[in-house]
Amino acid sequence: MENIIPSLIVFEGLDGSGKSTQAGLLAKDLSASGRRTVLTAEPTDRPIGRLVRQVLRGEVRTSPRALALLYAADRSDHLMSVRSWCESGNTVIADRYFYSSLAYQGVSEDMDFLRLINAYPHAEKVIFVDTPAEECMRRIDARGGEKELFDRIEYLEKVRNNFKLVFSGLPDYVSFLEVDGLLPVEEQRRIISAFISR
Ligand code: TYD
Repeated sequence: MENIIPSLIVFEGLDGSGKSTQAGLLAKDLSASGRRTVLTAEPTDRPIGRLVRQVLRGEVRTSPRALALLYAADRSDHLMSVRSWCESGNTVIADRYFYSSLAYQGVSEDMDFLRLINAYPHAEKVIFVDTPAEECMRRIDARGGEKELFDRIEYLEKVRNNFKLVFSGLPDYVSFLEVDGLLPVEEQRRIISAFISR
């Protein structure tokens, strides 16, 4: 049986890849075309997601394994809302989902363990905004502000490779699009829009 959440569209990519920009543009475009749309993100702004961000900022110390469990717990909590938005007729656009856990936590943690704690249904559609780690770092620097734990180039390179591995193993009932994050924003937007309406 197909293990997906219909109407769930997920954006994945490295920090600084441009995925949040594209997620926002798609939400705007779908709403403008009359589709009821919810734009959401992980880690969430709910209590478990807030705890995750405290760990990322170094305000709370814990083990990498505990952090992996927190991301997965935040996701389970988030899914209650995602499912109800989908069931009431919305298209849900999520900025990150469990693929991020496999890619990021996969750098240090055991993949079987991560798959086990992230045994959630796939999204109906997955869009990977693929931008080289070096360009992501440049954009993060230009943006200023605090760098989180994971904003380091070697780390991001490993994460990018993990994303590629994870997406090469997606079941064929998941629609997948990889967009070149170096393309102009408007061009990426057109490619994504064509993928969604096909
Ligand atoms: P991010 O999408 O970058 O949030 P923001 O909008 O605040 O920039 O996510 C925060 C960090 O968490 C980012 O470095 C990616 C990381 N992350 C994981 O390591 N595992 C996960 O499962 C998720 C959802 C995010």
